[in-house]
Amino acid sequence: MAATNGTAPTDTLFSPSLISPSVSSALPSGYSIRPLQRGDFDFGFLDVLRVLTHVGDVSKEDFEKRWDEMKAGAGGYHVLVILDGEEKIVGTGALIVERKFIHHLGVVGHIEDIAVSKDQQGKKLGLRIIQALDFVAENTGCYKTILDCSEANEGFYVKCGFKRAGLEMAHYY
Ligand code: ACO
Repeated sequence: MAATNGTAPTDTLFSPSLISPSVSSALPSGYSIRPLQRGDFDFGFLDVLRVLTHVGDVSKEDFEKRWDEMKAGAGGYHVLVILDGEEKIVGTGALIVERKFIHHLGVVGHIEDIAVSKDQQGKKLGLRIIQALDFVAENTGCYKTILDCSEANEGFYVKCGFKRAGLEMAHYY
């Protein structure tokens, strides 16, 4: 039964109501589109990913466990703050932990929303935030951490041990 209220049926990763009808109807005759299902291990899902990159030896049990974690939203958001001596928050940063199927069920950290109060900048607080998030990443099983930043901040992240990799692209809605 298709869900219409944003709640996914138990065997689909997300609600089929989020599948675009116009995309569905634009597919070649006989083709269909739907959310990933728990039983899709048996339908070549990982073989498709192997076209993209290394997946590893993932069993059906592994696949279903990862699917269950994704469905439950396991892992997730790690927002931390730095307070000054007067209990005022002067810095913050977040690590979002993303669970993947590729790279043998790899886990990737996404650093987001790093900020240090203007009058507190230059005291290595930014560096400490990144180091704290790196620790979270290492201890939640991330094999890498990535982020997007402006050219103006590249030097800061280089000082924190990051290096340029890839190119950011975006769609805004
Ligand atoms: N370019 C080059 N080097 C820099 C920069 C920069 N923009 N900012 C800091 N550095 C260097 C420092 O000089 C220092 O070098 P050193 O070790 O040789 O002395 C080193 O990086 C560490 O600097 P911190 O003192 O830890 O940096 P700070 O606490 O000022 O925080 C931050 C840096 C977070 C970029 C801060 O300036 C800020 O909040 N800016 C406004 C918000 C912002 O742009 N946030 C980042 C958005 S990107 C994202 O969130 C993924």
